[in-house]
Amino acid sequence: MWRIAIAFLLFGSLCAVDRQNFKTCQQSGFCKRHREISKPTGYEVISDSIKVNDTGLTALIKNKETTLTISIVSLKDSTVRVVIDENEGALRKRYQPLDALTEKEPAQTKFKKSKLEEGSTKLLTGDGNRIVLQHNPFRVDFYVKDKIVSSINSKETLHFEAFKKKVLLTDREKGFWEETFKDIKDTKPHGSSSVGVDIAFVGAKNLFGIPEHAEGYSLRDTRTYEPYRLYNLDVFEYELNSPMALYGSIPYLVGVHQKRSVGALWLNAAETWVDVESTTADKGNLAKEVLDANTKPREVPQSNARFYSESGLIDVFITLGPQPNDIFRQLAALTGVTPLPPAFALGYHQSRWNYKNQKDVKEVHEGFVKNDIPLDVLWLDIEHTDQKAYFTFDKTEFANPEDMIKDLAEKNRKLVTIVDPHIKKDAKYYIYKEAKKNKYLVKDAKGENYEGNCWPGDSTYIDFLNPKARQWWSEQFSFEKYKQTTNDVHIWNDMNEPSVFNGPEITMHKDAKHHDGFEHRDVHNVYGFFQHSATFNGLKARSENKVRPFVLSRSFFAGSQRTAAVWTGDNKADWGHLKQSIPMLLSLSTAGLPFVGADVGGFFGNPEEDLLVRWYQAGAFQPFFRGHSHQDTKRREPWLFADNTTDAIRNAIKTRYAFFPYWYTLFYEHSKTGKPVMRPFWLEFVEDESSWDEDRQWMVGSGLLVKPVLEADSKELSIYLPGKRQVWYDWETHKARPSPGAVQIPVGLNTIGLYHRGGTIIPKLSEVQLTTKDNHEKPIVLYIAVNQKGDHANGTIYLDDGESYAYENGDYAYWGFTFKKEHDYLHTITNKNLDKKGKFDSDVFIEKIVIRGAKFYPRNAHIFLDDFSPEDLEFEFNRDNFIMEIANPGAFVTREFRIDIHS
Ligand code: NOJ
Repeated sequence: MWRIAIAFLLFGSLCAVDRQNFKTCQQSGFCKRHREISKPTGYEVISDSIKVNDTGLTALIKNKETTLTISIVSLKDSTVRVVIDENEGALRKRYQPLDALTEKEPAQTKFKKSKLEEGSTKLLTGDGNRIVLQHNPFRVDFYVKDKIVSSINSKETLHFEAFKKKVLLTDREKGFWEETFKDIKDTKPHGSSSVGVDIAFVGAKNLFGIPEHAEGYSLRDTRTYEPYRLYNLDVFEYELNSPMALYGSIPYLVGVHQKRSVGALWLNAAETWVDVESTTADKGNLAKEVLDANTKPREVPQSNARFYSESGLIDVFITLGPQPNDIFRQLAALTGVTPLPPAFALGYHQSRWNYKNQKDVKEVHEGFVKNDIPLDVLWLDIEHTDQKAYFTFDKTEFANPEDMIKDLAEKNRKLVTIVDPHIKKDAKYYIYKEAKKNKYLVKDAKGENYEGNCWPGDSTYIDFLNPKARQWWSEQFSFEKYKQTTNDVHIWNDMNEPSVFNGPEITMHKDAKHHDGFEHRDVHNVYGFFQHSATFNGLKARSENKVRPFVLSRSFFAGSQRTAAVWTGDNKADWGHLKQSIPMLLSLSTAGLPFVGADVGGFFGNPEEDLLVRWYQAGAFQPFFRGHSHQDTKRREPWLFADNTTDAIRNAIKTRYAFFPYWYTLFYEHSKTGKPVMRPFWLEFVEDESSWDEDRQWMVGSGLLVKPVLEADSKELSIYLPGKRQVWYDWETHKARPSPGAVQIPVGLNTIGLYHRGGTIIPKLSEVQLTTKDNHEKPIVLYIAVNQKGDHANGTIYLDDGESYAYENGDYAYWGFTFKKEHDYLHTITNKNLDKKGKFDSDVFIEKIVIRGAKFYPRNAHIFLDDFSPEDLEFEFNRDNFIMEIANPGAFVTREFRIDIHS
């Protein structure tokens, strides 16, 4: 009976999320306890416990009840780590999700100086930043160039629940030990061990990050609101503008400032809540620190974030920027980058729950050919399996998977199959048998195999915390194990919060047990991370490290970007969800996870055609581009609509493919710099404060501004052009506009607001074929947008084979293009190898060059190739719009040339 009830709860009518299923802060014992603290918790440093060595400081801090240890270490590149733990003799070990980091022990760097004074200890880092440990009250302040930028515990909220022995419960202590939510008891055999403290961002008007929430991009003040919750949950058809927890968590946020931005990573995998306060420096304990002859504390904005986690340590990494680029590089040094994805993954993905059988799959992917619509990947959801036993195919509907995969591969297409972490409890199922025999399953509080309900019915769950279980999981993707698959099959890890239909808040019981004695409460937010990283490793190993894997995960944590793309889960076919996807994806990008997308069209419900078209147009400019929908929705392959709708969808997808060289280059550059591909405005225009919290527009790289149509029946689209003294060009009309400024453009069915930033050069394909592979090495058009001064523009291009790891051994090309005004009568366009280690030999040639903002009257143009004498070039020049077009310049991307334009 309950199963029916649950099925109804989850998939019954298309009603909105049932809030009752999920806790508020008041209903979560530790959150309530932390939030109710209104007086300073009274910690001070025990002065004679302070020890300083070359790279770190340790000390004891205490208040009336508790003594803790603190360690402060300096890491490379303006990063500082602060760890607060119980003092010796703790009853239990606390979990640290160190696997989220690229190095479990990040290398420490030496202090330049340290000075113990009465009342404070001062440390000067190798990068010239200052850290000051204030002794009483305990506080850690961070200074960049002598300006305070951040502080830990400036609000004196540090609260640390040390493990205790269980004694007879008094009423007051009940929430400390067991807790009940909606009739499900959490036995909490070890009691509470929560931790929390505040972090101030001095000078920061806005904080961004801590995905995943269906919220605006700039974090809101939560003083009269619920705190943001980080607890990976399966929340279908989620509520908009809500701080409720969703599928993944990255406990990282950044305080943005024109000159001194700061990031903070709270490395804790337990349920976490974050309160945000936006205030000014005169309101708290830092007023004195900002006061100087020119600064009035009440004019200094300050944002405070207060984190509380149910267990684990306080382990905070402060990245001291100071510029936006620095912030992304510093975060990338800690939690890593997305390695270069296979080219196909940047194409269009077609999914549905479910394509019913092989015939269906064939008809759909051939439909794309017939209708002249590009497609790279076809997806199979849970129904393709033999009764929800992952790693198998349904024996009748998918009787010959090899034929199906071959058929796709012949058209240069891939297949993605779903593999969830719940394992059907079936004595005949080999995965279940092996996992059980090897003791790779999560245990319940009593020590039996944990059982829950999910798609297959009774299910058990792999304990991904166990390194051996992970290794075994990786091996399941080998071709001997995952039968009838090939290197053309890639993987989707869904439901990995993990989703447990009959569990508390639709997830796993917190008292369930994992490897090494940790409870589920300690590791919850990192569970999915371990699954998708083991999946990625398995795919890589199955090809003997030759083929780049693609893995999509629903759940994620800090560091997930190293092995997965993610999407925003079960959204809905309405305009609100389309709009919400933008700040959600920007927030993920801000937190270091660049390969992100939302279900195009909306997962639940049937989009009207206008909405569907607009969603394709937005999705075409977001990193992960997949159409997907629920099994109860009407079929929505692009050709099932009115002709003009199909035409507009085709246009949007073709536009995506046309920009492929730019996307691929941006992903390559991300892997080197940590900068996301989909960018918030503050990363590019930190000088333009009014644009920082923009969440209807975004940048693709540094050159392309995107504003999709986000309202039904729009007649006009207004676009904000950010920055100071920049020039922007309408992508279609080339019309130039200054910034900051706004522009209104008329809306037709094919309208996407696209502006090309002056000073940048974007490579685009001149024509598109139906897959990324068919587009490989095809000619490009160079779009040059001259800067505001009229003297410069540059851009880059990255090329390789698009699928293997040969690039790691030099089989790639990374080249730059420059447009330059040499003097009043001469402008040049040149290219240059930016990385001589790259040896990829490519025949990609430039079919056309378009110069926007050519504010000169060209008389003639010629090209110099190698040592040969110059050749005359033909060109067209439009005086009204200042557009110069050079057709067939005869230049190759990876062979040096120079074009002289005389005026
Ligand atoms: C939930 C996922 O969010 C959705 O995309 C998928 O179709 C269903 N699970 C079925 O696997």
